[in-house]
Amino acid sequence: MHRPADQLHIRHAVTDHHGFSGPPSSVCAKPRVFGPCATATRSLVSGMRPPPSEMDQYLATLFSQDLHPAKKRAAENAEVLGLGNISLSSYEGHLLRFLMRQIRPKNICELGTLTGHSALWLLESLLPGGKLTTLEKSSAHAELAAEVLMPRARELTVEVEQLVGDAVTLLPELKSKGPFCGVFIDANKSQYLTYWEFARQNLRPGGLLIADNVFLGGAVFSGAPSKFSAKQIQTLRTFNQTILSDIEFDSTILPTSEGLLISYKK
Ligand SMILES: C[S@@+](CC[C@H](N)C(=O)[O-])C[C@H]1O[C@@H](n2cnc3c(N)ncnc32)[C@H](O)[C@@H]1O
Repeated sequence: MHRPADQLHIRHAVTDHHGFSGPPSSVCAKPRVFGPCATATRSLVSGMRPPPSEMDQYLATLFSQDLHPAKKRAAENAEVLGLGNISLSSYEGHLLRFLMRQIRPKNICELGTLTGHSALWLLESLLPGGKLTTLEKSSAHAELAAEVLMPRARELTVEVEQLVGDAVTLLPELKSKGPFCGVFIDANKSQYLTYWEFARQNLRPGGLLIADNVFLGGAVFSGAPSKFSAKQIQTLRTFNQTILSDIEFDSTILPTSEGLLISYKK
């Protein structure tokens, strides 16, 4: 059953924060995202990525203007956790929202909430009355996300539900809430093929799959040393090849710094 926005449901994490707690910090804790401090886009924890290009810096500046305070808070929370580098940049969030809006989604699911930054962009892509279901393994991450998601969902007159636990374990429950207009994959890369199979089966015709990090920090095409194992690299290569060759989907990859796969179910 769909829950109203002010009844954000977090399983395994007792959280029901009411209200976004005021203006953003004056400290720009996430320099990749916000205008004056923006240095560019994000890097994976491997530290194997090249420094931000001038284009990255331009995009960061261009897409960091007039951000909703909830987005700044979500990004700052990720930074405080030391995970700002794995949260979508404002450019990538804007791109996610832009793409999802094209299908006028009534319901979207997200795998990998972190502190809710990408989820906030997804909420803004929903039709009024629409619903986002977002999955997160870490209850600490989910609780921080709840602080920004619930009030923002209320503002937008959409619904949000958070499920906390291993996404693979939660997939059967998630399936019962589908089929979905949109699926956004941004959780553990080792299960991307499982998540693809879920999306393939649980997207509506005309639905959109978006998956982040399909370049695996460049490891899928670079011979340079990487923190990723050969198995992880092969998983992402197989993920990309499998989706791009599935004739029931029309797919492409946008060469963002992380690689963003977009797949439309015919
Ligand atoms: C890349 S971050 C997500 C970033 C977020 N989408 C954003 O841009 O703001 C990946 C998240 O997936 C979560 N995660 C990792 N393994 C998971 C799993 N097996 N099931 C669910 N979530 C998982 C991590 O705890 C982390 O918060």
